[in-house]
Amino acid sequence: MSIYETLSPYIFKLDAEKAHNIAEWALRHIIPLPFVQDLAAGQYCVVDEALHTEVAGMRFYNPVGLAAGFDKNATMIKGLSALGFGFLEIGTITQAPQEGNPKPRLFRHIEEKSLQNAMGFNNQGSQTIIKRLSKLYPYSIPLGINVGKNKIIAQSDSLKNYENVLLESLSVGDYFVFNLSSPNTPHLRDLQNVHFVKELFSMARSHTQKPLFLKISPDMDRDEMLKVVEMSIDSGVNGIIATNTTIDYSVLANPQESGGISGEALRDKSKEVLKILSEAFFTRTILISVGGIDSAQEAYERIKLGASLVQILSGLIFKGPSLCRQINEGLLELLKIDGFAHISQAIGQGIHTKHATKTSAIKTSRAGKKTNTDSITITTNALKSTKKNTQTFKTPSTTESSPKSTSQKSRQSKKSINAKSSAKNIESANTESTPKAPTKASKKSVTSTKQSPNIEQNTEKE
Ligand SMILES: Cc1cc2nc3c(=O)[nH]c(=O)nc-3n(C[C@H](O)[C@H](O)[C@H](O)COP(=O)(O)O)c2cc1C
Repeated sequence: MSIYETLSPYIFKLDAEKAHNIAEWALRHIIPLPFVQDLAAGQYCVVDEALHTEVAGMRFYNPVGLAAGFDKNATMIKGLSALGFGFLEIGTITQAPQEGNPKPRLFRHIEEKSLQNAMGFNNQGSQTIIKRLSKLYPYSIPLGINVGKNKIIAQSDSLKNYENVLLESLSVGDYFVFNLSSPNTPHLRDLQNVHFVKELFSMARSHTQKPLFLKISPDMDRDEMLKVVEMSIDSGVNGIIATNTTIDYSVLANPQESGGISGEALRDKSKEVLKILSEAFFTRTILISVGGIDSAQEAYERIKLGASLVQILSGLIFKGPSLCRQINEGLLELLKIDGFAHISQAIGQGIHTKHATKTSAIKTSRAGKKTNTDSITITTNALKSTKKNTQTFKTPSTTESSPKSTSQKSRQSKKSINAKSSAKNIESANTESTPKAPTKASKKSVTSTKQSPNIEQNTEKE
């Protein structure tokens, strides 16, 4: 049991939103301090070529991302990067600032390792958040911007509202997610229909070639969901993020009266949606799985079910800051057990369908040249974010040092990064360099041939 899990009964005595605010303060003001950042990165970041992947033209040093909703205002980028995430998704952001729903609006269901939130897109508004992001851009790991609509905006004006935020944020996002699935903005989920997604992604694609994702609800009717996803693909989406929280209150023993449920109670539903989407679309679009993922086993299962990447949120609350490391180290072990040299070999291996060509879609999207959905060349800011951006990302099949043999892999697995090299000396997760010597801050051996994220690449000027 981690220190966090030992302390969690005391932490959980605090109001859930207050506890989140304390965590935000630490991630904003304490973790980014140079020595602390080195220490955290050394403790939490796992770098191993077997986990490096390229999705929709973006390079990820591991497949575990932070789901939207934890860093709604993009105030914690540096601190969160030091916790070992492979990518971050900020927001949901809306054009105008919003207070969100009345408090209390975030609840823990501790026994069920689940949360229920009725936050209602509380955020400082796109202008403030984008100004903050522009001081940090370019980032060391891919950063997605999750876009929503203001509560006061009429349904008929929704498209314009989404478009305004997209246009404002285009230069500071590596990818964009359109959130039509929060249960906490009245009638938002009604926008999950073929007509609206067609308009939405046609509009978005007319403005950018960067990766675009749709985040969907786990509560949709299966046939309707398939139609909506089909239309999104036809209209230029790169992938689907499945899923947002559920309002099926039967999954909890004592649910609150409002708010979406996440964590363990959402797990089966989220997984079921992933299975449905994989069976229908694995060869045609990228899938990112989120909902109840709190262990390497669960993350690996989603990857085998067709997810190229996974995201976590509630697991972080219940298991604490070492969760990324636990998942990434566990993934390395699980790959080894299955005899895979690289994470890409596992993607989709658990899909049970006769028409799933298990590697073609992922190969196409990972190649980063074009998506198989729209044949558009995609060069993201994640790729542009370094002076060495012309370097080719070496996939396992083209890298001298990989694929590794099982013995090589076992020697190299469980590598955590050198704290100094991660925080000071490395330009980007997207470039390569000679490994740096371990420092006292890092108790773990470091022999990686790839780089960790440079979490000090940019200095926040606020
Ligand atoms: C407190 C809280 C706030 C959230 N806010 C957002 C949000 O603003 N936008 C969004 O797309 N999803 C939001 N989510 C949903 C998460 O991104 C994620 O889809 C969901 O929690 C399932 O993942 P999990 O079980 O790992 O928490 C929120 C979830 C929680 C718990």
